[in-house]
Amino acid sequence: MGKAGQNKVLELLSASDIANKISELGALITKSYPDESEELVLIGVLKGSFIFLADLCRAIDRPLEVDMIGVSSYGSSITSSGSVLITQDLWRPIKNKHVLLVEDIFETGLTIKFLIENLKERGPKSIKVCALLKKEDKSLVDLPIDFLGFIIPDEFVVGYGLDAKEKLRNLEMIGVIKAD
Ligand code: IMP
Ligand code: MG
Repeated sequence: MGKAGQNKVLELLSASDIANKISELGALITKSYPDESEELVLIGVLKGSFIFLADLCRAIDRPLEVDMIGVSSYGSSITSSGSVLITQDLWRPIKNKHVLLVEDIFETGLTIKFLIENLKERGPKSIKVCALLKKEDKSLVDLPIDFLGFIIPDEFVVGYGLDAKEKLRNLEMIGVIKAD
């Protein structure tokens, strides 16, 4: 059977495409926070970002903390409804720290917009966004992504942390489920 079970997944980004991009992102992020006396915390948006977060934090060459926040959007898991619920809050305060939100995929941008507004209330020194993927022409918000991996076509993707009904997160690549 293998990792994909009965599904056929067509590769969009290989494991090495992803690894190369993460090295680039890590170098850019390292440069963006030159003062090591200032605190940086990476906040992974659960669950989809857990693998990206693990690889990205190791590509950043400066002291940092890692935290996570869990969100779920109401309604269908595939189309974002815009209402977001915090299902798991941060472990630690972020006051006076640089926050880098780490997201698997930016589709409408509503999840990230909600999180930025929520986290701003807690007095961080700055908030920036790093997303591995962005779907072309789907954004509903005017929000810059400070560090972006890849722009992809408007298709439902899985693997490297991204799920379809909770499965397929453990694929090394990112791909599209192919209908037979
Ligand atoms: P947004 O709020 O519309 O930007 O939605 C972002 C969230 O929707 C991501 O964090 C994912 O959890 C989920 N999502 C959006 N597109 C996909 C996809 O193609 N595959 C898997 N999850 C997705
Ligand atoms: Mg997600």
